[in-house]
Amino acid sequence: AEPIKVALLGCGTVGTEVVRLLHEQADDLAARVGAPVELTGIAVRRPNKHRDVPAELLTTDAAALVARADVDVVVEVIGGIEPVRTLLVDALSAGKSVVTANKALLAENGGELFTAADDSGADLYFEAAVAGAIPLLRPLRESLAGDRITRVMGIVNGTTNYILSAMEATGSGYAEALEEASRLGYAEADPTADVDGFDAAAKAAILASIAFHTRVTAADVHREGISAVTAADIAAARSLGRTVKLLAICERVTDAGGDEAVSVRVHPAMIPKSHPLAGVGGAFNAVFVEADAAGQLMFYGQGAGGAPTASAVLGDLVAVARNRVASGRGPRESAYAELPVRPMGQT
Ligand code: NDP
Ligand code: HSE
Repeated sequence: AEPIKVALLGCGTVGTEVVRLLHEQADDLAARVGAPVELTGIAVRRPNKHRDVPAELLTTDAAALVARADVDVVVEVIGGIEPVRTLLVDALSAGKSVVTANKALLAENGGELFTAADDSGADLYFEAAVAGAIPLLRPLRESLAGDRITRVMGIVNGTTNYILSAMEATGSGYAEALEEASRLGYAEADPTADVDGFDAAAKAAILASIAFHTRVTAADVHREGISAVTAADIAAARSLGRTVKLLAICERVTDAGGDEAVSVRVHPAMIPKSHPLAGVGGAFNAVFVEADAAGQLMFYGQGAGGAPTASAVLGDLVAVARNRVASGRGPRESAYAELPVRPMGQT
């Protein structure tokens, strides 16, 4: 079959690992997809920094790369809203498949991207946007599509979990642990997004939108981060047999009039040491899903970092490439019900 041609936007912590896996696993990927998967270009800001990728692939003109007629799939690991929003809407509108790890964009402009994808029949996959390597969104979008999900709850930010775990285990200071999380490639370019809960709120918005087939944006999410959590808070929790974790909680609720709504919140919580989430350390994430027929499910694994995130990106790339080879496509997201989002504490 004809090669599937891929444009990579961004080559930082995640993108570098995507390039490595594409190169190292080229033969296996071709066998799994049924066609070679070829990297045709890589858009970056500072080409001189990227000595370990072939210079002829590098460009600073992401828009021209996306517009190239031979590009079938756009993989976006730049981050942020613009110029990425415009690039991805253009790609989807032109019928190109998109794989993205960009939770901030999906939580802000997901509706526009889903509509652009469905209008042109293009694929939009984003497993890496929530909980790093953990297969979570595709189970929600596909495996559980026949069930009724009532609750999604867990730890979805690796950086804050790394910081809280380090403060708990070694008594490290907050600033020192944050610096280490950045050095290890877990934190966002601006780590305020992690510690103030914006990143977890974006992920919660995506989870609620997918799980409840509705539209929730980051602004709808009640958000408290961990910047006010002190060593004294952690010691107090310990004396009560508890530990502090930053939780994202997405629930279906029914108000007094019997109308259905959703509640979506992110905040630090004291958890009993015996709870499975209490043992989730470092940059690991864990998410519980409850559904009417399935009951309770738990998803656990590495929630951040270059290689774990690239694993999720590559999984999506294989899925969209297979769809192209089969002239098919993955799940649609533009059909949804408007469920009101209830402020915290109100049902
Ligand atoms: P980095 O900051 O490490 O990399 C960003 C890359 O984008 C760099 O290569 C940069 O180029 C490039 N870039 C920035 N602006 C432009 C532009 N205008 N045009 C072309 N290229 C540009 O980020 P990460 O790899 O950590 O994260 C990427 C995305 O993945 C983000 O959406 C993030 O939220 C998400 N993500 C990250 C995870 C992680 O653990 N790091 C986990 C899950 C998701 P240059 O290198 O030349 O500066
Ligand atoms: N900064 C994010 C985190 C990256 O720490 O969880 C993974 O989405």
